[in-house]
Amino acid sequence: SDFDTIIKNGLIITAADRYVADIGIKEGRIAALGQALGNAAEIIDADGLWVMPGGIDAHCHLDQPLGDGAVMADDFHSGTRSAACGGTTTVIPFAAQQKGQSLRAAVDDYHRRSEGKAFIDYAFHMIVTDPTETVLKEELPALIEEGYSSFKIYMTYDDLKLNDREILKVLALARREGAMVMVHAENADCIAYLTELLEACGKTAPVYHGEAHSTIAEREATHRAISLAELIDVPVLIVHVSGPEAIEQIRWAQSRGLRVYGETCPQYLMLTATDLDQEGFEGAKCVCSPPPRDEAAQQAVWQALESGVFQVFSSDHAPFRYEDPKGKKLHGETACFKHIPNGIPGLETRLPILFSEGVIKERIDATRFVALTATNPAKIYGLYPRKGTIAIGSDADLTLWDSRARTTVRNAELHHDVDYTPYEGLELTGRPVLTLCRGQVVSRDGRLAGEPGFGQFLECGKPQPARPRGEAKGF
Ligand code: URP
Ligand code: ZN
Ligand code: ZN
Ligand code: ZN
Repeated sequence: SDFDTIIKNGLIITAADRYVADIGIKEGRIAALGQALGNAAEIIDADGLWVMPGGIDAHCHLDQPLGDGAVMADDFHSGTRSAACGGTTTVIPFAAQQKGQSLRAAVDDYHRRSEGKAFIDYAFHMIVTDPTETVLKEELPALIEEGYSSFKIYMTYDDLKLNDREILKVLALARREGAMVMVHAENADCIAYLTELLEACGKTAPVYHGEAHSTIAEREATHRAISLAELIDVPVLIVHVSGPEAIEQIRWAQSRGLRVYGETCPQYLMLTATDLDQEGFEGAKCVCSPPPRDEAAQQAVWQALESGVFQVFSSDHAPFRYEDPKGKKLHGETACFKHIPNGIPGLETRLPILFSEGVIKERIDATRFVALTATNPAKIYGLYPRKGTIAIGSDADLTLWDSRARTTVRNAELHHDVDYTPYEGLELTGRPVLTLCRGQVVSRDGRLAGEPGFGQFLECGKPQPARPRGEAKGF
């Protein structure tokens, strides 16, 4: 027959267009878009459904080794299983360098961790924690060439952070080699100072995590990251932005013509500081950095999604079990907030939450939903046009949505290995009913349909959005 699969009569929505058409799939790729395409081994009736590019979750942590003895609940098996069931077809987790470790060794380690396990396609961002001469002169340039064209740097966390001098060196390298730099922007010394004060007066419960990670510390670091990037003349992307203070800095940079990009996550739309203030130790479930803020911050984050200040919407899935001595209770239930592993789960709920709260409630339109969750991340991280759009020649990564189906979030029905979701009981409208990765069904009606090992590693090209504005000034 002409095609392996034809998806008939769906409402196709991309970052640019919406139209009703049939999609012809051959050998994992979109081979035709149109009407009366011919015959196929399999016909999928998408009448009444929305057909969007499969989600790209460009910020998630899977099976990442941690220095303090905590263990992530999800590896590449359970993590990509969960992502697939939530309509995502590509994830970009992190290959983190430990201080003293070669970057190459970190990347090799992640290939071992992911090999044969993934249900959907994946690429890696690197995390650069130790920018030695060898890393800067040899390892990074080679790895960027080989398809690891983005990396994250930290301005906080003792075992991860870089100082300003190191950040400048790394930014100059990124400029030279054409890599995209992601920045975790929080001022480490402000957080350490506030933590010490809070601890000294016995304020150690999870809720004080939110006070220690002040919005001012986030704003200052965001401003500094932007300034360092401007000094070098290189684009930079500020990850997991929590509220108006940091947003203002990003908008200011953008209004001055700088290539500064922003990312936010579901927790900054759906949670507030009061979620950290629960019975006993329960608030630990919502401890992440930056922490969720207040309702005014949620409104500011929505506005920045709508107006284009943010280009990327990711989960920042960082999975720790609650009832687990290697998870949130690493140091017991009376531990100071500073010992609670940071992060919350969200791979499977990312798209349904933004679809329901954003598109259905008309805070953003469907084309922006696609841009934020698939097309922009593909462009920014060098996967476009293979990923992130519905076009002839692109991978047949597609999610079919029933825009009217009503569901309630229940952790028991999610496919991660975390023992809770911060969104338990949340009522949503719209859900992914069929998800295909390279033409193969990976989930159906919220249930797993794929195979581990089907997911392929993706080499990322050097992204166009990472290009500097001007000529090098002797750097
Ligand atoms: O709390 C968070 N966000 N944990 C994950 C690690 C990170 O900084 O993104
Ligand atoms: Zn971070
Ligand atoms: Zn993260
Ligand atoms: Zn400790």
